[in-house]
Amino acid sequence: MAMDWRAWHDQYDLADSSLARRLKVVQQQVGAALDDCPPGPLRVVSLCAGQGRDLLEVLDGHPRRADVRARLVELDERNTALASAAVRAAGLDQVEVLTGDAALTDHYRGMVPADVVLVCGLFGNITDFTAEPQPLAAGDSMFTFVGYGLLKQRSSDAG
Ligand SMILES: C[S@@+](CC[C@H](N)C(=O)[O-])C[C@H]1O[C@@H](n2cnc3c(N)ncnc32)[C@H](O)[C@@H]1O
Repeated sequence: MAMDWRAWHDQYDLADSSLARRLKVVQQQVGAALDDCPPGPLRVVSLCAGQGRDLLEVLDGHPRRADVRARLVELDERNTALASAAVRAAGLDQVEVLTGDAALTDHYRGMVPADVVLVCGLFGNITDFTAEPQPLAAGDSMFTFVGYGLLKQRSSDAG
């Protein structure tokens, strides 16, 4: 049976569920990555962004929010509708939510190299995954969450 990716996000609201704990970890890491970014305009992209909670809830209260342009790419239009509503509610005018296939590089035009790249909850759904994630960022942060584990990779570490 196909996964319902809108319903999948409901687990984020179940207190002490593994996904709720994972969200907290991701949000802490995203906040820390923004803290570490140099002054000036920043670009953030999120692949398979879902409802965007990992980024949007952090940006809302972050001192760098005015510096950040972000693009969330997500296939399920129910999730992008919820992400867009969150963007409007928070007044995050520089955040775009795009409904589309995250594998299409055209969707990142004007946003790469990015300062922070989020690839969360993606590789755990790919069977037989053998390729190394290729950073879209130049010298900055890429966060990959494999299943419920965290693999924090700086593109400078990745060579
Ligand atoms: C495990 S969820 C993770 C969502 C979000 N990154 C998070 O961690 O909260 C995977 C998401 O990928 C989306 N998705 C699946 N295939 C996609 C594709 N080809 N392009 C964009 N999004 C896709 C699904 O709709 C789902 O919202």
